[in-house]
Amino acid sequence: MTTSDITEIRERYEKAGQGHVFRFWDSLTEDEKTQLLTQLNLVDVEQVTTIAQETLEKAKRESSPGESTITPLPSTSTASLLDASPEEAEQWYDAGMRLIEQNKVGVVLLAGGQGTRLGSSAPKGCYDVGLPSRKSLFQLQAERIKKLSELAGGATIPWYIMTSGPTRKPTVKFFADNGYFGLDPANITFFEQGVLPCLTPEGKIILANKSTVAFAPDGNGGIYNALNRSGVLADIAKRGIEHIHTYCVDNSLVRIADPSFIGFSAQRGVDIATKVVRKRDATESVGLIVSKNDAPAVIEYSEISPELASATVEGNPGLLKLRAANIVNHYYSAKFLLNIPNWTSSYLPFHIASKKIPYIDLESGEVVAKPSKPNGIKLEQFVFDVFPRLSFDKFASLEVSRKDEFSPLKNGPGAKDDCPETSRRDLLAQSKRWLEKAGAIVEVDEVEVSPLTSYGGEGLGEFKGQKITSASL
Ligand code: UD1
Repeated sequence: MTTSDITEIRERYEKAGQGHVFRFWDSLTEDEKTQLLTQLNLVDVEQVTTIAQETLEKAKRESSPGESTITPLPSTSTASLLDASPEEAEQWYDAGMRLIEQNKVGVVLLAGGQGTRLGSSAPKGCYDVGLPSRKSLFQLQAERIKKLSELAGGATIPWYIMTSGPTRKPTVKFFADNGYFGLDPANITFFEQGVLPCLTPEGKIILANKSTVAFAPDGNGGIYNALNRSGVLADIAKRGIEHIHTYCVDNSLVRIADPSFIGFSAQRGVDIATKVVRKRDATESVGLIVSKNDAPAVIEYSEISPELASATVEGNPGLLKLRAANIVNHYYSAKFLLNIPNWTSSYLPFHIASKKIPYIDLESGEVVAKPSKPNGIKLEQFVFDVFPRLSFDKFASLEVSRKDEFSPLKNGPGAKDDCPETSRRDLLAQSKRWLEKAGAIVEVDEVEVSPLTSYGGEGLGEFKGQKITSASL
């Protein structure tokens, strides 16, 4: 970098009110200077500063975001796999299977989150919840894809895995070290979401140390820019994929590329669909699929008042009014995603997450690696903030069985809910249910059916009347 380049970068930062990032410049070695400049050059400082100011001001204005306009989705946009007739359910499943067989279905995994609540520094997908097989979440997911492809006559189901700065390397290594869990690496694409600098509550860029900017992933809404920038959209178009299932890494029961969901969404001809389960109770930390200002939307658990969260249906005090819990299983038509380049950068709003961010004190030069309380903010986009772009006839939600489709790994071992123990419990209980439904006599306390044996409970007829005495099938 030339001296005039350096002057230019410095002037840009100073003009944007972020000149403090050069606070330690004179004490840096040449290598450290290069490191800092490389990072600063990657940031669109004017844009970040404007976004920060606008988002912080908006947050101050809207301490309670328009709750009076929040209602359940209109019934024309919803359906339930629990209430569907066997014929209708079978029709969805078959329609989805045909599309998979025709190689028209792809899968996008959101795996850029840092899993701070879980307390593990490895990517969440590497987590072993303690099944008899000791399979990681990534392995369970890979094997579900493998089995589904087999059920669909050897169809190709491309898997696009979104990682972020912190999860990229360990994720790619985990897959390579494990032989891609038997999948063809040609059909697995890793792509990376963007990062944004972490900021003080006043919107100033935080330095992690003298020559390093504190960066954080830009939220799972970073998916749209990332799909476009990384060439994944081009690959989707090239392969002739028409239907995409997106899901989040931490749901141990996730039905990847679920034929029923794909068939349901494709038959409705919607641009986006989403799976929901009944919310456990008023305090569960899940987003809700709702109608907000007459458009489909998700309202996050942090954004809803306790009164609205606990409001019940008139005449039925046991039933929450807003109970459609978002489980981050989204369907997209490829047509919708391929249109991203026309809207992406300007559309999605940013949300503020207060976090403990390692930083260097600008006065004393002391590095604080573990702040004791939240000292800064991360700016994040959310994957569901595209929903309000759609009219209700282009959006649908499908209610599915919680015990079969949602057991998220959010918290560390020993927590009350959504932890490794509950993931393990729910996976094993499902295996037992499947076997008993197939007519097997389960004689062991715990049994695990491998996804390679059954994707969703099918194909277990051979165990009819058999005593199950082994822990893994
Ligand atoms: C998310 C949903 C919430 C839903 C809940 C169900 C969002 C914004 N919120 O909340 O509505 O009820 O899951 O479990 O979707 N991720 C990235 N990049 C990031 C941040 C996250 O890829 O920068 C991924 C994570 O790896 C994970 C998914 O997005 O796969 C969800 O992220 P997480 O932060 O765990 O969201 P929750 O707060 O649990």
